[in-house]
Amino acid sequence: MVNNEDKEKECLTNCLTTRRQFLFMSGAATATILLTQIPGLGLSNAFAVVAKYPRQKIGKLSALKQDMPVTFSYPSKDVKNILVKLGAPAGAGIGKGKDVVAFNPVCTHMGGNLEKAYHAEYKVLGQCPFHLSTFDLTRHGIIVSGHATESLPQIELELEGDDIYATGVIGLVYGRNSNI
Ligand code: FES
Repeated sequence: MVNNEDKEKECLTNCLTTRRQFLFMSGAATATILLTQIPGLGLSNAFAVVAKYPRQKIGKLSALKQDMPVTFSYPSKDVKNILVKLGAPAGAGIGKGKDVVAFNPVCTHMGGNLEKAYHAEYKVLGQCPFHLSTFDLTRHGIIVSGHATESLPQIELELEGDDIYATGVIGLVYGRNSNI
C-alpha cells in the first residue's frame, strides 16, 4: 500500500526529472538559435528557406558586362529580378570567378524598389529610397545597414555551357506569404 509519504517522494522525483528535462531542452533550443546567428560558422544557410521552381533559362554568361545588371522574370512573370556580374566572388555565385549572382530587388523591409540601386564600388544594392536599407550582394544579400531585418531573396543559378538557368529562390519574395 502506498502511503502519503511515498506519494510525496514519487511526485518530487517526477517533478525534478521533468524540470531537468525542460531545462536541458530549452538550453539545447537556445544553442541552436544562437549557433545559427554566429557569423562565420557557415550555418546561416542551414535553415534558409529554399523554394525550388522549374528550371528556366534566363540569359547567357557571355552577354553579361561587369557591374551592368540586367533584369529577368522568375519564378513568374510578375516577379522581376536582377542578374549581375559583380567582378568579385560571391556566395552562390556562378561562372569562372563565382561572381555572377541574381536577386529579387524588392526591399525586404517595406517593399522599396532597389532595381536601379546597384553600386559597383561596394557590390551592394541600396540605399533603399524608403528607409535606406542596403544589401551586400557578395554575401547572399545580407543587410548591411538600414531598417530591414531579412536578406534579399537570392535566385539560385546554374550554368550549362554559356547558358544561365534559374532553379529556385532562397528566401521569401516581398509581399508573398509563401514561395510555393
Ligand atoms: S522599405 Fe526599404 S528600408 Fe524600408
